[in-house]
Amino acid sequence: MENAYYEKLIRCRDAVRAKTDFQPRIGLILGSGLGRIAETMDIVTVVDYKDIPGFPVSTVPGHAGRYLFGYIGGVPVVCMQGRVHYYEGFDVHDVVLPTRVMGLLGIKLLFLTNAAGGLDPEMDTPSLMVIRDHMMFGFPNPLVGPNLDQLGPRFPDMSQVYDPALRACLHDTAAKMGMKLAEGVYIQLTGPSFETPFEVRYYGSIGGSAVGMSTACEAVAARHMGLKVCGVSCITNKGAGLSAAPLNHEEVIEAGNMIGERFSQLVTAAIPELDKLC
Ligand code: HPA
Repeated sequence: MENAYYEKLIRCRDAVRAKTDFQPRIGLILGSGLGRIAETMDIVTVVDYKDIPGFPVSTVPGHAGRYLFGYIGGVPVVCMQGRVHYYEGFDVHDVVLPTRVMGLLGIKLLFLTNAAGGLDPEMDTPSLMVIRDHMMFGFPNPLVGPNLDQLGPRFPDMSQVYDPALRACLHDTAAKMGMKLAEGVYIQLTGPSFETPFEVRYYGSIGGSAVGMSTACEAVAARHMGLKVCGVSCITNKGAGLSAAPLNHEEVIEAGNMIGERFSQLVTAAIPELDKLC
């Protein structure tokens, strides 16, 4: 797998490079319903995933499929509007391929975002949560397989995946804007079914704050490459069983839209500050 997969990564990077020589410093991955930030971005070039040979393209409603290159708060960024998920049937190595391509394009910092269900009954919805750490269950580690020595070591340290200085910076930025941010542990499950009420109770009892179907694997792939990582979850709903209402994807997208403006403001203000730290 090693050579064929690494060669695919390089081909994807080169296909993007053939379309733009834009040099991003920060990579931003937008979760379900959080695509609005693109409206505040000063876009220079758009590269559709479908135009990159071999690149995985999402089938999920609410996920556009493109890299946006441009500036947020004057900082050169590449923004992933749409990601692929393991539950769509993609191999885990393909799930993290777009992240790795951004690493190969030269980003120094990866800013992850997602929609997530709250595991703490007291959590407001919708609300924003800085990711302090993550746990993955039922999800293969994306580094399984021959190590890609060109990207990073066989046994990378994961003791501080979400950089403490970047987390502090997100809180400081939010405080200056009069915005409250929670902080907690994100749990990545495979999906696509939402959790049962007892799963929600269990994952809350072992220290989880929010649950979703993405992000942790991308964070692991990014840390493997030595990138700095931070993340914000948009808590779109209470986990199953914590409210009377059944869960559905449309509600997740709608809650993302409701908080989209606040989320955009936070990201726009945070990026220049985060950039100073990398
Ligand atoms: N569970 C899993 N993923 C999610 C949820 C949820 O409740 N909400 C948004 N993404």
